Amino acid sequence: MVYHIGNTVVNIPESIDEFNKTSARYMMEQVNKKPDSVMGFATGGTPVGAYRELIELYKSGRISFEMVKSFNLDEYYPIKKDNSQSYFRYMNENLFNHIDIKPENVHLPCGEAVDPNTECDAYEKKIIAAGGIDFQLLGIGTNGHIGFNEPDDKFPCKTHLVGLNQSTIDDNARFFDSRDEVPRKALTMGIKTIMSAKKILFIASGANKAAIIKEAFFGDITPHVPASVLQLHTSVIIVLDEAAAADIKDKLE
Ligand code: PGA
Repeated sequence: MVYHIGNTVVNIPESIDEFNKTSARYMMEQVNKKPDSVMGFATGGTPVGAYRELIELYKSGRISFEMVKSFNLDEYYPIKKDNSQSYFRYMNENLFNHIDIKPENVHLPCGEAVDPNTECDAYEKKIIAAGGIDFQLLGIGTNGHIGFNEPDDKFPCKTHLVGLNQSTIDDNARFFDSRDEVPRKALTMGIKTIMSAKKILFIASGANKAAIIKEAFFGDITPHVPASVLQLHTSVIIVLDEAAAADIKDKLE
């Protein structure tokens, strides 16, 4: 079903299969409309199914990434590229190894950088040099983070080094052998970097996201709920599963 928050389209597909297909379809439409799109990609559990659908669309000849450039939101710091939990590996395994994107057009903040601040400045400049992000895929943490912009007293602007909140470490521990292995820091696009994307596809699934989604889209705009800043973006598309939409269903038009 399709609903609205003002002008913002909110898709609530009926199954997880449809959730993934809907998310992938928006990405395909972007790339087919502008084959040299600069795509902002996200990691985590939520987009895996959408990436699987994109791979299928590529295999059936309905999309090509030959001219696409990509920039990922974030990467743990420090982390080796070959660590099984690096976002570098995640993107290769879940998407890039299976499509025709050119390796030289793929960008992630480097978790192996000697000087993280220099790496962040260089990453921000690369995004600007590419003409900015046309289409950013975005998830949300249970604490309201987007990228790894954690709740804070201010909105950080540019790509930067960030200390991860305990809730993020706890949430992401499920991907590691133990909580102690979760890196305590990350490199992440800033809020301005994200908000400069021409279009944003916001996706969330699962009951553990329901409360924060209500705060993000119907609460105050505050850096204590970083995703709430999306209320100020003029081109956001939302895809939620029923569980993530549970607390806002009665507020949708
Ligand atoms: P998840 O992470 O998809 O693993 O829930 C989302 C996020 O932290 O942005």
